[in-house]
Amino acid sequence: MNDSIIVLDFGSQYSQLITRRVREVQVYAEMFPWDAPAEQVLALQPKGFILSGGPNSAYEPGAPYVPDYVLQSGLPILGICYGMQAITVALGGKVAPAGEREYGPAEITTIQANPLIPPGSMPVWMSHGDRLESMPQGFERLAVSANSPYAAMGDLQRNYFGVQFHPEVRHTPGGLALIQRFVSDICGAQANWTPGAIIEDSVARIRAQVGSERVLVGVSGGVDSSVAAALVHRAIGDQLVAVFVDNGLLRKDERLQVDSAFRKNIKMEMHTVDAVEDFMDALSGVSDPEAKRRAIGRTFIRVFEQAALSVGQPRFLVQGTIYPDVIESSAPDRNKGHKIKSHHNVGGLPEDLSFSLVEPLRYLFKDEVRAVGEALGLPVELVWRQPFPGPGLAVRCLGDITMERLATLRSADAIFTGELHAAGLLGGRRKADDPGIAQAFAVLLPVRSVGVMGDLRTYQEAIALRAVATDDFMTADWARLPYDLLARVANRIVNEVPGVNRVVLDITSKPPATIEWE
Ligand code: XMP
Repeated sequence: MNDSIIVLDFGSQYSQLITRRVREVQVYAEMFPWDAPAEQVLALQPKGFILSGGPNSAYEPGAPYVPDYVLQSGLPILGICYGMQAITVALGGKVAPAGEREYGPAEITTIQANPLIPPGSMPVWMSHGDRLESMPQGFERLAVSANSPYAAMGDLQRNYFGVQFHPEVRHTPGGLALIQRFVSDICGAQANWTPGAIIEDSVARIRAQVGSERVLVGVSGGVDSSVAAALVHRAIGDQLVAVFVDNGLLRKDERLQVDSAFRKNIKMEMHTVDAVEDFMDALSGVSDPEAKRRAIGRTFIRVFEQAALSVGQPRFLVQGTIYPDVIESSAPDRNKGHKIKSHHNVGGLPEDLSFSLVEPLRYLFKDEVRAVGEALGLPVELVWRQPFPGPGLAVRCLGDITMERLATLRSADAIFTGELHAAGLLGGRRKADDPGIAQAFAVLLPVRSVGVMGDLRTYQEAIALRAVATDDFMTADWARLPYDLLARVANRIVNEVPGVNRVVLDITSKPPATIEWE
């Protein structure tokens, strides 16, 4: 078993980020709600605890608190913001409302030598409304800032630490090193959570789960399903059979790329189902966005079930669920939103299908999924490609969907993304929280306008270019692309793509717009 650190979630928007940061220094971390059952948490035999921030006030009745088993474990604890305040309350110190909420950059100065925070000063990110009035017994102040006399505290005997600032955010440049000192030096956790170790661990779990049974995987060309398939193939080889549904809504050359990545590179048994006609029939005359998604979802399920039958109806099915999905679905309160689009029902399978699920990415963050994909020999273009929605080009081909309009869109999209790649603005390796261009594509609008080409009047459709910068896809800004590049793209599209005589640029952020047009 890998050494592990437990992150207890007190409701901060950054709890997931803390977990990711620990993994970035190659120590396995798992996140649990603060009140998760002790047995469940201790089953991991952790080396230490990190208590996250949170929206509550630690002194209020009913506020989340540090569970007894954590304090009784004798293991090191790092409390961040609310976590620090919760330790304070638990051990007899005092927390009170600060006169004013402190939010934004600050500078802390170390006043006591300690193993967590280096000597001197460092910039940090603060975000808190409460503050410490007095520390519990056994603690001493480690660092101060202009507004926080207790910017950091520690009990160096028991290895308990509290920081008022957020080491996990990018605005605290020394934060990752601080987290590393806590998990490696103070907790003594081995830094062995590498792609190689992840693969070894997953291979063992997959083999134990499926034994000698056959396993089915649906690949779409997306990162998660591709890496999941490659990982399961590494574990059980020919027991795995892949099905790739060509729904006619793929990007240029996508079918070939998927074919070559799996059949040639990984030598996996893969059945490509040409279902283009089924999808075109289902979409014929459908232009309402939600109706399109439903039609695609229904057709996919029918085609996939048929394909499963034709390869002998394996008992197990691989799903590319990743750790953030697992965390989100276990914290329902945070996601009570309205349905904006029926995303997750599309391209997915109904829950009552008679498969047992194999979820090899269940504990991995996206950046780990990519690192594993590369380590398994998947091509960089596939591992680092931008997200592509389950309903594919259908949601970018506004209005009626015909083979001809899809071909138009596909060509325009290839020109736009090709130019972005050539300019180094899209594709290639990027850090998970890099706010650079995360997604860029063309949209075909069912709007005709007048143009002139040579001496001829044209009356044709328009292409909209959409490029967004985001690191979480929940909010996004439109990307400021170089004018010369935009000029080249527009020029090439109207010259090279029949049926298009106008190119426009989408300059709305999300919200209020969404990233996709439908
Ligand atoms: P929106 O358009 O809601 O998209 O801002 C946010 C992100 O989700 C992707 N997206 C989908 N992904 N199935 C998917 O797997 C879908 O039906 C779907 N719809 C949108 C979108 O490309 C963007 O990355």
